[in-house]
Amino acid sequence: MKFFIDTGDVAEIREAQAQGIIDGVTTNPSLVAKTGRKYKDVVTEICEIVDGPISAEVLSTDLEGMLREGRAWAKVHRNIVVKIPLIPDGLKAVRILKQEGTRCNVTLCFSPSQAILAAKAGAAYISPFIGRLDDVSETGMDLIEKIVTIYNNYTFDTEVLVASVRNPTHVVDAAMLGADVCTVPWSVLQQLIKHPLTDVGLKKFIEDGKKIPV
Ligand code: G3P
Repeated sequence: MKFFIDTGDVAEIREAQAQGIIDGVTTNPSLVAKTGRKYKDVVTEICEIVDGPISAEVLSTDLEGMLREGRAWAKVHRNIVVKIPLIPDGLKAVRILKQEGTRCNVTLCFSPSQAILAAKAGAAYISPFIGRLDDVSETGMDLIEKIVTIYNNYTFDTEVLVASVRNPTHVVDAAMLGADVCTVPWSVLQQLIKHPLTDVGLKKFIEDGKKIPV
């Protein structure tokens, strides 16, 4: 399973990149708004840090606007993946952008039927938001299981990108189900690394190491 980091914070991306744990980056308007920076500036800097798929989202919701923004994003860097919302005009935009050679990540997916349509339209990635389903008393991971099964049934090329990840269990469950990608916030990446027995064991090794005659 590939790991993307889900953030607009370039300091987090630099640190994760140095740890060698990320294959790409996803952003969205909410994450970039937190930085106080211009969206294009943030994405351009990210493209200099990570050599992998970088998702940048359109803000328009009409076909013409999404195509205009998508084409502009595609010119920023060859690694840009245009993030398009799962709405009727969004599917049209995905189809046209794909014909032009631009990869799209279809975002805000909350049902298997939406995921089927995104794949039919030619999405490179589908982003089911599992945490937000958990928030409304549904089991987000059930959606991942259904989409993985459906895509495998028909050998769709679309990659399942698990989004709205809130905890390490989401990541492990996504891997167990065979999801292609998990996009993970910095805080969860750090939780994945930590284990109390690692800390206890390391402390003991350090203490015992001091007892070894030099
Ligand atoms: O990748 C989508 C993600 O940024 C949304 O996460 O926690 O706002 O539902 P969240």
